[in-house]
Amino acid sequence: MEPVNAAIIYYSATGTVHTLARAVAEGAEKAGANVRLRKVAETAPVEAISARPEWGQHIQATADVAEAGLDDLDWADVVLFGTPTRFGNPSSQIRAFIDSTAPLWLQGKLAGKVYSAFTASNTAHGGQESTLLALGNTFYHWGGIIVPPGYTDPVQFKSGNPYGTSHVVGAGAPDEVVLEAARYQARRAVDTAAALKAGRAA
Ligand SMILES: Cc1cc2nc3c(=O)[nH]c(=O)nc-3n(C[C@H](O)[C@H](O)[C@H](O)COP(=O)(O)O)c2cc1C
Repeated sequence: MEPVNAAIIYYSATGTVHTLARAVAEGAEKAGANVRLRKVAETAPVEAISARPEWGQHIQATADVAEAGLDDLDWADVVLFGTPTRFGNPSSQIRAFIDSTAPLWLQGKLAGKVYSAFTASNTAHGGQESTLLALGNTFYHWGGIIVPPGYTDPVQFKSGNPYGTSHVVGAGAPDEVVLEAARYQARRAVDTAAALKAGRAA
């Protein structure tokens, strides 16, 4: 059978979600998927970006990462979305990309795919779950199959978020537990998509 196509579509201003996205991509590759790692377009004004040097530095450091397009969504059997938590919600950059998907949605092309999501926030109670659940609203509208990590692997009892991998930036850079949770989440989503693909082909 054809391998599963996995798109990892993320936004990151200062690199944390990018680090998670790379671990997700690694987990998806190890699970046997064809992987596209894609950042969404930056929409913030230059003045806002230049006010925070680490933001501009991250843009430069990831200049080689391709921008997400509708063809990536169309191509994918499974899509994992990553976003920083912004006032308890996904970032406007990831929302802008999602709001551009109506042409695919109208054709029913977003239905039946596997979706999962991951995030980062500054504080432990800063809204990670609300961000992930907010992305879930879109997946419902698309007719997606939402595959969260749950507590289905020992790493989930250490990382602790059944809704999706999430990192608390205030605690430092993502450590091996959160990166392993990201790899695991990808594996679970890819395995589910592979089972669906095989079942549909049968
Ligand atoms: C406009 C804005 C809103 C934010 N809102 C929250 C929030 O509600 N809760 C929180 O814990 N952190 C919040 N943060 C911190 C971000 O979540 C944090 O900077 C981000 O996860 C870092 O990810 P990145 O390095 O990939 O950009 C906010 C940051 C900005 C700029």
